[in-house]
Amino acid sequence: MSEITVDPVTPATDAIFSCRNLAIEFGHGAHRRRILQDVNFDVHQGEFLALLGTSGVGKTTLLRILGGLLAPSEGTQIHFDGAPIDGPPRGVIMVFQDYASSLLTWRTVGRNVALGIENSLSKAEVAQRTREVLDMVGLGDRIDDYPAQLSGGMQQRLQLARALAMRPRVLLMDEPFGALDAMTKANLQDELLRIQRRTGTTVVFITHDIEEAVYVSSRVIVLSGSPGRILLERDVDLPSPRNQVTTKEHPEYLRLRHEIYDAVSDHVNS
Ligand SMILES: Nc1ncnc2c1ncn2[C@@H]1O[C@H](COP(=O)(O)OP(=O)(O)OP(=O)(O)O)[C@@H](O)[C@H]1O
Ligand SMILES: [Mg+2]
Repeated sequence: MSEITVDPVTPATDAIFSCRNLAIEFGHGAHRRRILQDVNFDVHQGEFLALLGTSGVGKTTLLRILGGLLAPSEGTQIHFDGAPIDGPPRGVIMVFQDYASSLLTWRTVGRNVALGIENSLSKAEVAQRTREVLDMVGLGDRIDDYPAQLSGGMQQRLQLARALAMRPRVLLMDEPFGALDAMTKANLQDELLRIQRRTGTTVVFITHDIEEAVYVSSRVIVLSGSPGRILLERDVDLPSPRNQVTTKEHPEYLRLRHEIYDAVSDHVNS
């Protein structure tokens, strides 16, 4: 079932991220454990890549490696814009599931958005950018509220707005909608897709939800096993813009969902 569609030796030159022979271990001595192994993939400009996998397979670990927060094992070749990653790459912003703890409770919505740009832009530019991204995520009228006055979905929108204010080239999103109810989650998926189309931002999106992965992405990579490896990689060729009803009735959506589900359960049961 394992399918590696990239040359495991040569780093791609046209990719934003290029990962070759990616591996990582945690722990010491007898407790040392390999978490990811032989992971080879590229992330291309403008794509929406979903990374799918069961709990504990190493999704967050992989995202932290891409974000330059964690060093992989020796032998891994990982490049951003053709250069080896050494610390957080420029223009790469992470968005986490735990929106509440990533917001500053004592700052207003507007001042939370300003956080990542206030040292590099003028006051007028910060104000203009803040309004622009809050409008983008539908929080234009909440600029003077505090995070505690917002619903969970709004707080996650705020985290997204703060990331967008930095005009990222790449958003690394770790189960960003995992803690939200189904309706809020669906709305935010659609908002994110609309924003991504408008801004051309490259997105790497982690989820353990097969339906969410197929719905939002242009490509899905499934991680499985221990240590985690790429089990399956599929292009998602579905009409855009996506629609919560019609996309999910589309024969290709149903086929992909079925194929991925079978692959994951075969692998888990084998
Ligand atoms: N800093 C660390 N030290 C030791 N082990 C770690 C560390 N970070 C992660 N692990 C282990 O690595 C494995 C993968 O963890 P990771 O958080 O990447 O999984 P995940 O796929 O994101 O899971 P989930 O869906 O539950 O978020 C787990 O077994 C975890 O216990
Ligand atoms: Mg995780």
